Amino acid sequence: MKIKLCVCILLSGILLGCGTVADKTFSKVTIDGPYKYKVDSVMKLMTLDEKIGQMNQYSSDVSATGVMTADNTKLQQIEEGKVGSMLNVVGALNTRKYQEAAMKSRLHIPLIFGLDVIHGMVTNYPIPLAEAASFDLDLMRRTAAGAAKEASSMGIHWTFAPMVDVSRDARWGRSMEGAGEDTWYGCQVAKARVSGFQGKSLYDKNTILACAKHFAAYGACIAGKDYNTVDMSRLELQNVYLPPFKAACDAGVATFMNAFNDFDGVPATANTYLQRTIQKGLWHFSGFTVSDWGSIGQMIAHGYAADMKDAGCKAISGGCDMDMESRAYLSYMKELIKEKKVKEKYVDDAVRRILLKKFELGLFDDPYRYCDEQNEKKTVLSGELRNLSREAGKKSIVLLKNTNHVLPLSNPTSIALVGPLCKSKDDMRGGWFGIGTIDGVVTINEGLKKKFPYAQVNYAEGYDINTNELKEDSALLAAKKSDVVIVCVGERIFQSGENRSKAHIDLPSTQQQLVKDLKSTGKKVIVLLCGGRPLIFNELTPSADAILMTWWLGTEAGNAIADVVSGDYNPSAKLPITFPFTVGQCPIYYNYKSTGHPAKDGAPYTTGYMDQTFQPAYPFGFGLSYTTFDISAPVTDKIQYKMNEPINCKVKITNTGNRIGKETVQLYIKDKVASITRPIKELKGFQQVQLNPGETKEVVLVLNSSDLGFFNGEGQYIVEPGNFDIMVGNSSQNLKGITINLRKE
Ligand code: GLC
Repeated sequence: MKIKLCVCILLSGILLGCGTVADKTFSKVTIDGPYKYKVDSVMKLMTLDEKIGQMNQYSSDVSATGVMTADNTKLQQIEEGKVGSMLNVVGALNTRKYQEAAMKSRLHIPLIFGLDVIHGMVTNYPIPLAEAASFDLDLMRRTAAGAAKEASSMGIHWTFAPMVDVSRDARWGRSMEGAGEDTWYGCQVAKARVSGFQGKSLYDKNTILACAKHFAAYGACIAGKDYNTVDMSRLELQNVYLPPFKAACDAGVATFMNAFNDFDGVPATANTYLQRTIQKGLWHFSGFTVSDWGSIGQMIAHGYAADMKDAGCKAISGGCDMDMESRAYLSYMKELIKEKKVKEKYVDDAVRRILLKKFELGLFDDPYRYCDEQNEKKTVLSGELRNLSREAGKKSIVLLKNTNHVLPLSNPTSIALVGPLCKSKDDMRGGWFGIGTIDGVVTINEGLKKKFPYAQVNYAEGYDINTNELKEDSALLAAKKSDVVIVCVGERIFQSGENRSKAHIDLPSTQQQLVKDLKSTGKKVIVLLCGGRPLIFNELTPSADAILMTWWLGTEAGNAIADVVSGDYNPSAKLPITFPFTVGQCPIYYNYKSTGHPAKDGAPYTTGYMDQTFQPAYPFGFGLSYTTFDISAPVTDKIQYKMNEPINCKVKITNTGNRIGKETVQLYIKDKVASITRPIKELKGFQQVQLNPGETKEVVLVLNSSDLGFFNGEGQYIVEPGNFDIMVGNSSQNLKGITINLRKE
């Protein structure tokens, strides 16, 4: 009997397909207010085919960002109501063409147009990792708002940003798209960027839907290999990788995009735990989730789906509402419902979520409201947006070294400008540049010449931009006849981003040799580092008098760099991601755990390496200024605190140098004893302070006991009583602290 019963249950599981597995976690979206009736009224009119059509998304053939499926019937399918969204269609005119096709469908349901507006549309801002270095949340909100203004003027309703993946491994090429390695800071940046893209109302024509991606833990790919397996405890997921997504959700993010990787052995695209239990359930997410490009179909390669039909079944059951470029839903959803492998309520929920966003955008009122050519002409690459790009650029540059104040340069008579990147427009945009055109870009050469109009700029290539082969004769000549050398080295634009993982992140040895040879001329050498990830450049460091991490700064790169080199802007940025000393240290991050053998160079039986230091080249939070600051130890009003009592940390900062400057005072905590092992320190606050020479200011960084908590093994967020170190300083490694005690009651 038992055996029969067991087989029956098993069969019923198979017969009813993947839908029933997730049923207990199903939570229908709740729509309140005026849109509830509107969504319901459209739903009532829709056939099952039309509902499924809303869940189908195609890319235009013009600028595909993934592997395309040849299909020249997309416009016809749109007219037949088989498409709910298009991506990579750009321009007021072009989007109008597609929207007109949608208006020919039976119910005239408008399309929603998506695009990767990651750091600007046509006007490029610094790559997100660079902007994160600014530690200026309002700036990041404003650049997101600027990007939304420009994108919406070109018919775009939806950006696939912010990427909120925590990334701790410099080998992974997509670190460039996010806010770096810190969870708490990642939450702040997620909130800032969502509010920038979405503004106060999605009905506003200058705002667009944001998209928190890639849900979830995509940045934890093993060995830094893009798309690779993610294997961690749910404890690690909840304490490190989920919080920025939750922050985006709490900030009202309109959509999520799931991830290519698996978690707990289940591809994120079909992961019920992630998408239904947590996102739609625990977090009450009311938007919709789109797959990543082809990620539904890729579950066959994962070995998780037998075929596209099985993949579609598992994806919708797992909480994926829209299918980007797999065609699984369009091809099989109706059959799956007929075979009772998928319950129609899953489709209804997904479609309600999608329609709600179309109503919120005002597309049912006027499908063409974003197809305004005049608005496009006056918005794209406007002076306002260019100025914003320049502001963001100069605030994102990190000063890593400045021996004997060689920077800033004041009225040089001659500059040897070396390196092909100095004249590259293409590279300055950085990866995921949207439709950023190169003709608008200000190169480093152009920026410096404009900044120093009376200086003789002696340009020399120094090395081949493609082969890195040295071409230094002219460079050495230029150096010998100039007061100072500015040499730009680093990666190329296409060496970071998606599908750009690298096993070696050292700068090419020829580039580093070039810097050494330039130094041998006896001149001061200023190094500009370009790239979309932490780089390793130990060989050139001793020869560099100054080093600036200039990332990829976008359209106004040349002007932003010139503003910093000249001292018109005193660099204030801090590293949002650790720069390793060697790639063998990866993944490396500041908030590691103590272990039972705490790391200590030179000491035996400690967590580290026998052949080199465990310390990074440059730590999280590090960045110099042209002036100096003194930061006091924190002073709290008492030592004993009760739960939910604010902990006011007073800190005095003094500008001990001779130039106005801005310091980012960082606040870290350490939970000294807890029911699970905790990091040796965690960033929990920061404040930027502008000071005149000799000026002192006191700032108050406020902590609450909730900042001292963590997720326990049961997935609950708890705050335990006990002792906590409260530390402040100008980087994760230069801190002064006190200990406070948190009591239970
Ligand atoms: C890509 C990326 C994703 C992007 C999408 C659409 O594969 O993983 O971040 O938004 O496809 O371009």
